Amino acid sequence: MENYTITVKTFAGLEEVLAREIKLIGGKNIQPGRRAVTFNGDKRLLYKANYNLRTALRVLKQLSTFRFRSVDDFYKKCRTTAWEDLMDVNQGFAVYSTVINSDEFRNSMFASLKVKDAIVDSFRAKTGSRPNVDTKNPEVTVHVHITGNQCFLSLDSSGESLHKRGYRVAQGSAPLNEVLAAGMILLSGWKGETDFIDPMCGSGTLPVEAALIATNTPPGSFRKEFAFENWMDYDTKLFNTVASETGKQGFSKKIYASDLTARNIGYAKANARNAKIFNHIIFKVADFKDLTLRGNGATIMVNPPYGERLSQPGLDKLYAMIGERLKHQYPGNTAWILSASKELLNNVGLKPALLSFITAH
Ligand SMILES: C[S@@+](CC[C@H](N)C(=O)[O-])C[C@H]1O[C@@H](n2cnc3c(N)ncnc32)[C@H](O)[C@@H]1O
Repeated sequence: MENYTITVKTFAGLEEVLAREIKLIGGKNIQPGRRAVTFNGDKRLLYKANYNLRTALRVLKQLSTFRFRSVDDFYKKCRTTAWEDLMDVNQGFAVYSTVINSDEFRNSMFASLKVKDAIVDSFRAKTGSRPNVDTKNPEVTVHVHITGNQCFLSLDSSGESLHKRGYRVAQGSAPLNEVLAAGMILLSGWKGETDFIDPMCGSGTLPVEAALIATNTPPGSFRKEFAFENWMDYDTKLFNTVASETGKQGFSKKIYASDLTARNIGYAKANARNAKIFNHIIFKVADFKDLTLRGNGATIMVNPPYGERLSQPGLDKLYAMIGERLKHQYPGNTAWILSASKELLNNVGLKPALLSFITAH
């Protein structure tokens, strides 16, 4: 099978975790970058990256990389790709560009327009007809990345962002992104050897992602579709093989998920049921300040409110309560707190062993 460069996008701060995941699926020449990791792989690995990587947001297949001297030169080099081998003339396509430090391209729209022209003109010259642009529901999406006078042309193999696993049926007011939740859990090193506690679980993203990790359930197993299924070279048999390769594993520990509101616990239960890991999670409506669990050696992961509804004094108290509870009720466990506010975290009053900054935008 042909080998090519695959670029996997993620959140800033999760590159190393993602690189480790890529190594596990067999990626070669793995290179962490900024909000992305590149590696060498074939079609099987491209499918596997979409299906198995928990910290991937999007997987791109590189088509070509070249330097250009002018806009005209850029257009000509885009024409050298055999677009008609990649897509059908009846498929709607879209082009997205990122432009950094370019003298030729002041805005990314212009770069997209030039690539669109190259695709349309290539088709016209070879087949006499042209494919149409469809930005709403494209079947094929081309990504253009320009840095200075270097261009990387890629095809998006994922489609909808991979954080949209497909199991979420209900969500509260501030649900955690699934990729961020999985990234935090993998960053903590938890793989299911101990109990896992989320005392402010909201719609249950952390407990559900934890259960998927512990049972080795591929995050892609709930997805209805991936963009690569629209490609001319789509290999159903190969994809079915990839999908059947990951064996689920047993999990003997427990995951505890609780929240202040019954409504959120209802959401969390619905999501867990849909993700088929309901039996691994023990749900409870409880205020963290009254929660008594006999956790020992457990991983506690909390994503407290950070300002959507509570006022600052209320939040200060809430974070102080979390610190109190962790210190007195849960010694002997490891706690991770995910918050968008460094100031609020100061109120916890416990000295962190590790501070990690992940940027989710
Ligand atoms: C930022 S949200 C958590 C979102 C969650 N990670 C998700 O993915 O849906 C914070 C949660 O803390 C809960 N909460 C606030 N104060 C609480 C308390 N004292 N005890 C337990 N839960 C609390 C809220 O009900 C809310 O669901």
